[in-house]
Amino acid sequence: MAVSVDALPGRIRHRFPVFEKRVYINSCSQGALSDSVREAYDRYLADWDEYGAPWEYWVAQLEAARGTIAGLINADEDEVAVTTSVSAGVSALASGLRFGNERDKVVVSDFEFPTIGQIWHAQERRGLRVEHVPSEGDGTIPLERFEAAIDEQTALVAITYVCFRNGGRLDVEAIARLAHERGALVLVDAYQAVGSLPIDVRSLGCDFLAAGVLKYLLGSAGLGFLFCRRELVQGIEPTATGWFADRDIFEMDIHDYSPAPTARRFEAGTPPIPPIYAAIAGIELMQEIGIAETEAHVRELNALLHDGVEDLGTRAVTPRAPEQSGALVCVPSTDVNALVAALDAEGVVTSSRDSNLRISAHCYNTADDVRTVLDVLARNRELLAAG
Ligand SMILES: Cc1ncc(COP(=O)(O)O)c(C=O)c1O
Repeated sequence: MAVSVDALPGRIRHRFPVFEKRVYINSCSQGALSDSVREAYDRYLADWDEYGAPWEYWVAQLEAARGTIAGLINADEDEVAVTTSVSAGVSALASGLRFGNERDKVVVSDFEFPTIGQIWHAQERRGLRVEHVPSEGDGTIPLERFEAAIDEQTALVAITYVCFRNGGRLDVEAIARLAHERGALVLVDAYQAVGSLPIDVRSLGCDFLAAGVLKYLLGSAGLGFLFCRRELVQGIEPTATGWFADRDIFEMDIHDYSPAPTARRFEAGTPPIPPIYAAIAGIELMQEIGIAETEAHVRELNALLHDGVEDLGTRAVTPRAPEQSGALVCVPSTDVNALVAALDAEGVVTSSRDSNLRISAHCYNTADDVRTVLDVLARNRELLAAG
């Protein structure tokens, strides 16, 4: 068991120097820095030094990032906007949707990241109604809850693949099928899934998918993306826009608004060049490591984690079933700040949301990392809440 579970990290862990000093098991917040992402940042600085203002090359890097992202999620390049964050991409999308009298409702799952709820509530100023879909206490949202909320007035359903708060995973395919049967569009926030689970926008059946590269894709802050299904692109005219969203970026015309015919219309100003270098390096590294292999590896680690937490007399709030969870496992605590600090004092990096400890293993984590976490939890049993 220990041999097989550690085969993947055995191959790649040396490329992530943080492990020389810490047990890093917090990829739901940020992936560990790799040698290749560090080298990409060095290359950005070297190119700047060497060429002064290599704008043509930098715009080519933007296009390279678009191609890499499209390949990652099985989209076409002209269906991908390279944005500075999930928030920027989804805001551009929301600004371009027209809500008629007949379809004036957006259905938002209770698993959403704040940005998603906030963006749709901001559209209330434009006449939209927002309906929330509540979750169960067991970290799930049954499909029947979506069946009750999605109706003939629903313009769009906003769902998250894996919840940042409790690690619960939604059945995106089933919800998308239901939404489409009722004439609604579907937006998926895949930030807590991309890089830790293979993502295919075609088999998910979504219309839009937003994510960023900071976490399981091993990139850095400052880069996100928005997929928009080809058939929908030209019918959406974002009013949150900028010159890099224009049909001809270098036309420099201030007299009209002529958005790009592709998903580039969801972009805005000067592209975030440094994180683009990092994103390409991070995504390529994850593809080289293997995302499907990573998913299988993390499932094994998470089984050890769930068992260990149960041996300590509690239960994770994250469901155990593979179809109901992703990489993130959340453990309830009586004082989560004290628990994160206790782990940190022993060199273990985790994070928290609500009153839950977030433990998120990735390709580089070992069974020993999980044992180290469990040892610290055992020594701080009084900080664990009943599951
Ligand atoms: C599920 C999810 N969505 C969105 C975000 C943040 O998106 P943005 O790129 O707008 O900061 C996060 C970040 O923590 C997240 O976990």
